[in-house]
Amino acid sequence: MRIGLLTGGGDCPGLNAAIRAIVKRGTSEHGCSIVGFHNGWRGVIEGDATPMTRNDVSGILVAGGTMLGTDRCHPNKVPGGMDAVKDTFENEKLTGFICIGGDGTLKAAGKVSKALDVPVIGIPKTIDNDVVGTDASIGYDTAVMIATEAIDRLHSTAESHNRVMVVELMGRHSGWIAVTAGIAGGADIILAPEEPFDIEQVARQIRHRHRNSNFSIVAVAEGAQPAEGTSWDFEPTLDERGNPIAGSIGQDVTKAIEDLTGFTTRLTVLGYVQRGGTPTARDRLLGTRFGVAAIDAIVAGESGKYTALQGDHVVLEPFETMMGKTKWVPRELLDASHGL
Ligand code: F6P
Repeated sequence: MRIGLLTGGGDCPGLNAAIRAIVKRGTSEHGCSIVGFHNGWRGVIEGDATPMTRNDVSGILVAGGTMLGTDRCHPNKVPGGMDAVKDTFENEKLTGFICIGGDGTLKAAGKVSKALDVPVIGIPKTIDNDVVGTDASIGYDTAVMIATEAIDRLHSTAESHNRVMVVELMGRHSGWIAVTAGIAGGADIILAPEEPFDIEQVARQIRHRHRNSNFSIVAVAEGAQPAEGTSWDFEPTLDERGNPIAGSIGQDVTKAIEDLTGFTTRLTVLGYVQRGGTPTARDRLLGTRFGVAAIDAIVAGESGKYTALQGDHVVLEPFETMMGKTKWVPRELLDASHGL
């Protein structure tokens, strides 16, 4: 078989582990040729392809980012995009395709899988961990580790200066990183999109805590929102795609806490650090397992599905399971972040 491969959407640690597994397993075990496309779906549209051998992927297991490059382009949103994808599939004589991406990239994979008569398998990656049907996505574990370490480090400087420290963490739609790193790092207050908050209540909690303590740590997800009917009007600053820009909610929460409590309050926006650098052992393992499962699935004739971790097992889920949905932080985990 001749298998195309791309990474799309935001990068994350563990992508190279998946690429390496696909190329090594595909060429050595299954005798496939693997063709890598640069910069996500844009590379497929532009026919920007490169043959990949075992040597090309040697040593990349520990490397962050993606050796193929990535992009947020969706073929169905570019004029003539789907036709260009079809042409590239024909020109490259592809008999299978593996697409490593988040929500948007996998949605496009589902559409391509339906439109072209070529088997397509997806692999979920996103530090946000919000892909439905899988317990974890590639990159999430590393992001939580980085965010937890950052919160750990904020404690000593917060305490030394008698400050409230707000740390803004990634997660526009769901608050997986903020909630789990917040709990693991001992944040005093955690604000996630799943639980709209009342800033007056947040200020009351901080004032209460400061009767016995001289500092507080507040972890806030990028997509956290004030509850309807509360006194605080928050209008996030949006980027060109209509998404809140990094630092937007963090700045407003920081200012509001300082105004309402009178305590000196400082903001740390962790930003892209959460997506950078070497993957944890868990992400290397997940990337490798998903890569192996994806290439085995294509060779076995599967299509229109993505790899998913369910308990201890890697299984295949149909694209319909995740399309148009968000995996929210469950109630039990949100509850576990209260009153600690
Ligand atoms: O890939 C997920 C993510 O890191 C989100 O957590 C974050 O909100 C977004 O990507 C940032 O996107 P961009 O790389 O386009 O700025």
